[in-house]
Amino acid sequence: MSTPDSMPRSIRRNASILGLFAAATVAMVALVQQGTDERINQARQQAQLQALTEILPAGSYDNDLLTSTVLVDDPRLGNRSAQTAHLATLNGQPAAIILQATAPDGYSGSIRLLIGVLADGSLAGVRVLEHQETPGLGDKIEPAKSDWIYSFNGKSLTNTATERWAVKRDRGDFDQFAGATITPRAVIKAVHKTLQYFDDAHAQLFAQATATENQP
Ligand SMILES: Cc1cc2nc3c(=O)[nH]c(=O)nc-3n(C[C@H](O)[C@H](O)[C@H](O)COP(=O)(O)O)c2cc1C
Repeated sequence: MSTPDSMPRSIRRNASILGLFAAATVAMVALVQQGTDERINQARQQAQLQALTEILPAGSYDNDLLTSTVLVDDPRLGNRSAQTAHLATLNGQPAAIILQATAPDGYSGSIRLLIGVLADGSLAGVRVLEHQETPGLGDKIEPAKSDWIYSFNGKSLTNTATERWAVKRDRGDFDQFAGATITPRAVIKAVHKTLQYFDDAHAQLFAQATATENQP
């Protein structure tokens, strides 16, 4: 067997070139990956910001939603880990909270939701952040595909009894989609549970909002 010293110089040179190429390729892939991750994060944040401002009309709050946040963790929200909630205040008074929740039982897995609850416990609005539901069937939860998601606006535990948090076929208040009841059922259940969580936790959540507002 030949030792490196006894290898012909051309082989050693080719081996070095190959090694350099390999190292450069690895570095390039790492860079591209990093850039892609950053772009995905930016796109996520952008989508979230747009959803936040869609849910809460301008003028209903006067604080910075992006910095007025609190970490929230409760099994009723369905998330795998603690998630950021955004607190809205008007003249230092609690106006609304926007919670992240996950419906774990969509047709194709989890559906991530942004749920805005006004201080009086009624829904300001719901938006879908991420889902893998089927185009033409379950994707009618997107406002771009149908108006269905707006049917949550104004609903609360007070004006909608527990058994009405269901699709019409199950004797509830919400439309189902033709040939697709799994998706709407999953979203309705997640929103209802989030309101139940809010009902228990709102005093504590809003106490944190006012504490944040009053910081020098
Ligand atoms: C390829 C395929 C994709 C489907 N995608 C969805 C979906 O995204 N959401 C949904 O609720 N049901 C979807 N369904 C239908 C469900 O399997 C189920 O039949 C339906 O939700 C029950 O609704 P129904 O009670 O109106 O029949 C899909 C079915 C097939 C065959």
